[in-house]
Amino acid sequence: MKNFISLNDVNYLDQLKNLALHVKQNPFAYKKYGKNKTLGLLFFNPSLRTRLSTQKAAFNIGMNVMVMNIDKDGWALEMEDGTVMNQGKQEHIKEAAAVISQYCDVIGVRTFAGLTNKEEDYSETFLNKFMKHSLVPVVSLESATLHPLQSFADYLTIEEHKKTNKPKVVLTWAPHPKALPQAVPNSFAQWMRATDYEFVIANPKGFDLSEKFTENVTVYHNQDEALKNADFVYAKNWSAYDTYGKTTAQFKHWKITSEKMQLSNQAKFMHCLPIRRNVVVADSVLDGDSSLVIQQANNRTFAAQTVLLKLLGYEN
Ligand code: CP
Repeated sequence: MKNFISLNDVNYLDQLKNLALHVKQNPFAYKKYGKNKTLGLLFFNPSLRTRLSTQKAAFNIGMNVMVMNIDKDGWALEMEDGTVMNQGKQEHIKEAAAVISQYCDVIGVRTFAGLTNKEEDYSETFLNKFMKHSLVPVVSLESATLHPLQSFADYLTIEEHKKTNKPKVVLTWAPHPKALPQAVPNSFAQWMRATDYEFVIANPKGFDLSEKFTENVTVYHNQDEALKNADFVYAKNWSAYDTYGKTTAQFKHWKITSEKMQLSNQAKFMHCLPIRRNVVVADSVLDGDSSLVIQQANNRTFAAQTVLLKLLGYEN
């Protein structure tokens, strides 16, 4: 694996899953692969799970880790080639990526969607430029449009908890007071479409995701209809794709409640976290036995550990 920025970097999903499940059972069995290697983690945004689980993953395989809040602690980065840098940007991404590569064997980068310019976000300018100038493998810690380490952990969690080979997995839009990126739902859809699961999406009209990620997926605009017979209910807010970045105070009734979960096949509840209690989901669901959110967060470590091993050249 050269880089890990989306499912497209995975050759054999089953093989990756099996390695992750073995890693989870034997977290310290791979220490020699990371010995004397360094992971650099660059954050442009806040993070709890990604930051800690990726560090733990690296420690488990013997790597050293350096973490930098690059937006606050680094020089302001220029992205454009050929610019006369006589304004506010002090360092070009060309030197920054090459220099960080001198100190690291793998580099993790987290960026976020700006949500004002769809073309700019969907072209993944920062990540692509960083990869172009990096001399070592790059792992996405969430980009403007995808969150592959989250999706890998979500997929592992479903594999561990599914009761049939073809569970019904529902990705449902849920309310949120702020406009959020489409990275988690895009990525989740991408990974779910690569499985044999019955995968459907529910969202209010006007909130369809990009067709690139929903091709051949049934999209319901009636949440109750979608939840029928669901084995897994994955709630997530996202802002509109068509009227890019727009959010709405409407659709509060799309919150996941115990009554909604009763429409399902005793479904497990999933969310990537952080989550706004009693906005996205009722306490009764989040605190109930059906909730898998903590298991998902736990699997972030093993997803990251597996990806780091592959980026370091481990062959299974
Ligand atoms: N789910 C997730 O990526 O959480 P953080 O933003 O806290 O890393």
